[in-house]
Amino acid sequence: MAQYVGAIDQGTTSTRFIVFDRSGGIVSVAQKEHAQIYPKPGHVEHDPLEIWRNTLTVVEEALARKGLRPSDLTAIGITNQRETTLIWDRATGKPLHNALVWQDTRVDPLVQEFARDGGPDRLRGTTGLPLTSYFSGLKLRWLLDNVPGAREKAAAGDVLFGTVDAWLVWNLTGGRCHITDVTNASRTQLMDLRTLEWDHGILKLFDIPRACLPAIVSSSEVYGEAVGPLKGVPIAGILGDQQAALVGQTCFQPGEAKNTYGTGCFMLMNTGETPYPSTYGLLTTVGYRFGQKRPVYALEGSIAIAGALVQWLRDNLGLIAASTDIETLARSVENNGGVTIVPAFSGLYAPHWNAGARGLIGGLTRFANKGHIARAALEATAFQTREVLDAMSKDTGIAVKELRTDGGMVVNELLMQFQADILDVPVVRPKVIETTALGSAYAAGLATGFWTGTDELVSNWAVDRRWRPELDAAERERLYANWCKAVERSLDWS
Ligand code: G3P
Repeated sequence: MAQYVGAIDQGTTSTRFIVFDRSGGIVSVAQKEHAQIYPKPGHVEHDPLEIWRNTLTVVEEALARKGLRPSDLTAIGITNQRETTLIWDRATGKPLHNALVWQDTRVDPLVQEFARDGGPDRLRGTTGLPLTSYFSGLKLRWLLDNVPGAREKAAAGDVLFGTVDAWLVWNLTGGRCHITDVTNASRTQLMDLRTLEWDHGILKLFDIPRACLPAIVSSSEVYGEAVGPLKGVPIAGILGDQQAALVGQTCFQPGEAKNTYGTGCFMLMNTGETPYPSTYGLLTTVGYRFGQKRPVYALEGSIAIAGALVQWLRDNLGLIAASTDIETLARSVENNGGVTIVPAFSGLYAPHWNAGARGLIGGLTRFANKGHIARAALEATAFQTREVLDAMSKDTGIAVKELRTDGGMVVNELLMQFQADILDVPVVRPKVIETTALGSAYAAGLATGFWTGTDELVSNWAVDRRWRPELDAAERERLYANWCKAVERSLDWS
């Protein structure tokens, strides 16, 4: 019997293929970055064909690295950057446009237009989401309006829409499956959270033809078999990346929460089997649905810019040579020297949802140096997380006892300590921090019986390190008040 499960993790900046064993340990991994395309301020695109090519490359590399064959894999799971929107020709498989990435803000005028009648929360009741440029529905509308001929072909079912999961499954199955899982569908703003079906009223409102949409499936079932380098391997799990991390962190009980520090930063709390409405600026979303079991919902606090700020210091300012250098630079000073950075590059997401917010660096004096800037950049992630955690406590009345963390930035121990300090909550890093890929592998392995159930997954989870709050309360609140003042100044800038 096959001993492993594979996971394709298609993220905002790179694509990975990771092979896991039964204990959740990593057997082999390969990774490749893809180009970030910025045609204009606020526009962010990816080349869908590059993403597909990179997927094939990392699959082949990870298998070759350990001499594995497709038959060594019982199944593969897929996890992906969510909301990023693609359209392609059903007959040729060619994309009609670059993918509009989740951070892309070009649909802001459409957001204003639809919010005029009923306000920005008019679709929250059905979809759990406010009207913003973040979600796929209006991005698809923009593509149908702006790519010549796309609308007519979409209405005839000759042009297909998908988020990245749908694009990958369609290609992996040689064009046989046009599906998306319920967690990705919950980020389109086109799905009814309760029925888990496309909402005809919203399709009509946004003028989106039903014929171009994929079928909505669960997060864990055998959808089809792969062709190409994974020939014959069942594709059996799909989860949006943040939901995958919730599963990888085994947050299966209501009230359990995780925070993933990647390009952005996303905190999700399991809220059980009924959607939990938010009045404090969070999103209600599907957490996961295993086969035909009842769906499990989550509250989410989405932060658009976290690790991306470190990349910006590296790529746009040349302050560091590699992202990992940020910790050493930040440790070269004792504190932020009064500097605060609000990285509102795509407006501010949760809990503000302020599209007009723009980034700022404040509190500068002649004393400030690049160490202070590095420190303020790390602190920005921790402060944004505090805003989201506060909103979660207010919405649910649940005080999170400890926060499970994962994602690329959690190797940064200065950040982890500051995070615990500013939340006044212990922060826990598990042994496997590739929880996004692991979560989709878990979904796939549950579907094929490789894992017996969620109890087995919970027993795989183990602590690597725990950070306890050390900062005194007065200092914590002074720093946080400074942050809040800076955020106020960044709002409605443009
Ligand atoms: O909602 C966007 C999110 O899914 C992107 O995650 O890890 O690729 O930055 P990441």
